[in-house]
Amino acid sequence: MRCLPILALLVALYAVPLRAGPPEDAPDPKAVEFFEKKIRPLLTEHCYQCHSADAAAMKKLKGGLLLDSRDGVLAGGDSGKVVVPGKPAESPLIDTLKYDGDVKMPPKGKLPSAAIADFEAWVKMGAPDPRIQGAAQPRQVGLTIEEGRKFWSYKRVVKPPIPEFKDTNWPVNDIDRFILSKLDSQSIKPSPEADRVVLVRRLYFDLHGLPPTPDEVDAFVSDKDPQAYEKLVDRLLASRRFGERWGRHWLDVARFAESVTLRGLVFKEAWRYRDYVIDSFNRDVPFDRFIREQIAGDLLPAASIEDRTRQVIATTYLQLGNANLEEQDKKQLRMDVVD
Ligand code: HEC
Repeated sequence: MRCLPILALLVALYAVPLRAGPPEDAPDPKAVEFFEKKIRPLLTEHCYQCHSADAAAMKKLKGGLLLDSRDGVLAGGDSGKVVVPGKPAESPLIDTLKYDGDVKMPPKGKLPSAAIADFEAWVKMGAPDPRIQGAAQPRQVGLTIEEGRKFWSYKRVVKPPIPEFKDTNWPVNDIDRFILSKLDSQSIKPSPEADRVVLVRRLYFDLHGLPPTPDEVDAFVSDKDPQAYEKLVDRLLASRRFGERWGRHWLDVARFAESVTLRGLVFKEAWRYRDYVIDSFNRDVPFDRFIREQIAGDLLPAASIEDRTRQVIATTYLQLGNANLEEQDKKQLRMDVVD
């Protein structure tokens, strides 16, 4: 189970920027999320080809309009402003999408009405746009070093004193005692204890991600052994299902997929990496080892031919993710992989 604290750490690392107070003029995180989920993909797919710095570099920029940065959107094109933040009705960009006037965008064909509605909603929120470029305006994102030192996951582990609490019957262990003390301070009573049917379902969902069968529920409910709970936990942890359930979180981090639909690629052998991850969780591979194998498993010494194969498969990690392996600018490709 040594991987579990690491997942918590990863979550914590992701959480760091969220915990930081945004800079004064930073757009609201909800609005940024809207931009990232709805607007950026549309711009990338339907507009950058003719309205981006890349297009400009290839002398293919159209209408003098850059849509790949906030400055570009705000500056507008050859005929002036294209977006008036907060006012979709006064924003020429919206007219072009609706095919209302002479200029119809994208030229190839009107976007679906849901996409156009998203653009309108975005302009209405004030066209929030996190794509702030250029070294000219360095920005503090996330925590300062000082603030970081105070963040819980970077603090030394200490054993705090057990806090005060009232109901001495309820707590079973020290964690309960911390919970109870906080509940007391808010005048909240603990929930009633879960019955065995609820408990066995929780365990299966947490550790395997699937509900128990009726027989498995019955077996636990009628098990008179005082250690029945502990034994069930051990059995679920030992099952291959445990690695399948928890390995999925890592597969998400690694951006695992068996195909790239957009480019019609299928990775026939991808399952080997999937199984490597599941096995690593089930074998309790320490997290540092797990990472090393994925980054440089081919260079690590191996005790057996099986280990060597496993470690080489681990490096599939480097093939996954966002890098476009057909990228012809090899410096860019290298950076994408490193990233
Ligand atoms: C295949 C190339 C191409 C694509 C893709 C494209 N545009 Fe255009 N865009 C043009 C051309 C060409 C013009 C200039 C049209 C004119 O002035 O008659 C233009 C002009 C514009 C203008 C007016 C700029 C100005 O100031 O005159 C807007 C707004 C615009 N495009 C928005 C978009 C948006 C939004 C998308 C994506 C949804 C998009 N375009 C996709 C080629 C393209």
